[in-house]
Amino acid sequence: VGEQIPELRAIVQSNLLADSVADFDLYVAMKGAPAPILYRRKGNPLGQDVLDRLNAHDVEGLYIDAQEEPEYYRYIEHNLRDILSDTKTPLDQKSELMYGAAQNLMQEAFSDPRTSNCVERSGALVQSTINTLLYEDGALHELLKVASFDYYTYTHSVNVFTFSVSLAMRLELCDGDTLLEFGMGTLLHDIGKYKIDSSIVNCRGKLSQDQWVEMKRHPEYGDSILRENGLVPGIALDVVRHHHEKLTGSGYPDGLKNGEIKQLVRVCTIADIFDALTTRRAYKSAVPSFPALKLMKEEMSEELDQQYFGEFVAMMGSS
Ligand SMILES: [Fe+2]
Ligand SMILES: [Fe+2]
Repeated sequence: VGEQIPELRAIVQSNLLADSVADFDLYVAMKGAPAPILYRRKGNPLGQDVLDRLNAHDVEGLYIDAQEEPEYYRYIEHNLRDILSDTKTPLDQKSELMYGAAQNLMQEAFSDPRTSNCVERSGALVQSTINTLLYEDGALHELLKVASFDYYTYTHSVNVFTFSVSLAMRLELCDGDTLLEFGMGTLLHDIGKYKIDSSIVNCRGKLSQDQWVEMKRHPEYGDSILRENGLVPGIALDVVRHHHEKLTGSGYPDGLKNGEIKQLVRVCTIADIFDALTTRRAYKSAVPSFPALKLMKEEMSEELDQQYFGEFVAMMGSS
């Protein structure tokens, strides 16, 4: 009573699962009431009776404290498998939750890969997302609709993961286990930027020669971060280390060429470049999808796998 109501974010009731414990305060707007009120404090289990009451007709909306969005998305991440397998939840809502949970995980990963336990958590999240992409028609389309067009390293990571896994599925390049490992690699492909000074990573202008040299170390830094975290499958390491290699041999860090670059790595490279072009940054506006694909075709045809690129164009056209 008398407590200040914080800035609120609306959430959907079907995301709350019976007998789960929410780590965030829950607010409700009752019909006719002037403002939402605190309904359930964090840490209390959400019994079926609580959820039933929320379903009552006089409840108009459900909210969380905007400050507690990370806790909310961690809750979603924790329950993601159940949420996604619920056939009553519409696909657009599932996509929003998947994207939100992945984005939140990546935000934590880039603030500290070790304490966030990001490798293990990304495995579970990638598996749930792959299942949805595999079994729900239109899932890619819905995910692309919620994707952010503002460039942050964490949103970029989620976008690249979405494009890469969808393209690898379309090309039928690997079995399910490898696809999971590949998905983890694409989600974490830029994790090495964690080790680079944020004044370089978030630089709004052109990088100096020295800054650029440092920036180009992120694949190697990523490789070592993942090794330090153990239990990282080979193809994920390949993706992290080699996503900036080019078929012409002019990429970095190892200057691999042609057959030396694995098929799945080539997929991630295409997704990575496309997302970098089509997102907005402080110093550049976003290029729309079609001109971006045209530019990639005209200026990077030697560097990228042309067959995969052709499939990528077809996939973007049909989703
Ligand atoms: Fe990168
Ligand atoms: Fe990237």
